Amino acid sequence: MIRLRVPGIVLLGITIVAALVPLVRGVTDLPTAEHHLLHAALIAGALISALLLTEPRKAENAHYGWLLAAVLSPIAAMMLMWPSEYAWFERHPLGHVLEHLGIVGCGFASGYAGQMYASGVGWVTGLSLLGMSVASAWGFGVAPAPAAAVLAAATTTAPQTSAAAGTTGATNIAHGAVLFSQNCAMCHGARGTGGVGPSLVSERTRKDFQQAQQWIMKPDAPMPTLFPGTLSRSDVRDVAAFVETL
Ligand code: HEC
Repeated sequence: MIRLRVPGIVLLGITIVAALVPLVRGVTDLPTAEHHLLHAALIAGALISALLLTEPRKAENAHYGWLLAAVLSPIAAMMLMWPSEYAWFERHPLGHVLEHLGIVGCGFASGYAGQMYASGVGWVTGLSLLGMSVASAWGFGVAPAPAAAVLAAATTTAPQTSAAAGTTGATNIAHGAVLFSQNCAMCHGARGTGGVGPSLVSERTRKDFQQAQQWIMKPDAPMPTLFPGTLSRSDVRDVAAFVETL
């Protein structure tokens, strides 16, 4: 087991250094899917190092506390990747690093605590966490961008969806386009190609629907905060849905 301790510590060190990258890169703007894959890589590094570092127990010596930690740590890791907070983390490198260290800690704990409970359990809990984090890169737990079908429906049945938007949470892209020309076009251009503010063309590759809403509700200066004064919650949804089509 001494043999495996050195590679285990080295791998854990590399993983922790990788978790600090936002401090060097500053404010990031990675597509959500790629970002999830990087988080999955952090989890994989932490998990493998935990499996290398533990000396698995026999089940008869098991203490239930280890099992509790092994089961709760994957849940905690997924909570750290809660979609509504992405925009905040992207703008706050230090918070982002703390999030990464939390993810590494949970990845390590899922393998370590599992193995300490009984040989093999760390593999089960660790791989289930890794599986969930990889799946999230393909949209699991991530707000979907408005589909083309929704776009078509919104433009043809604007009056009805407009009435429903506030109560049902459905988006109305046609209404979003009107709001955009009234509140955003003076800075971002009539077609979103940019002006005082940056171009919003292909904004969906930088911010998903959820992140665009977060940004519009809490933008950085000099962009003005129009929510909740000028724009209602459903207006934010509509204008964000429109921005995602640019
Ligand atoms: C007074 C000018 C102004 C108005 C009005 C304005 N913006 Fe902005 N917007 C900006 C500036 C400047 C930035 C860049 C801020 C930064 O990156 O720190 C920005 C950034 C953004 C971004 C992020 C772009 C990126 O880098 O990913 C989005 C999305 C956005 N605006 C959408 C909107 C929407 C939607 C509206 C209308 C509801 C709006 N803006 C109104 C000036 C404006």
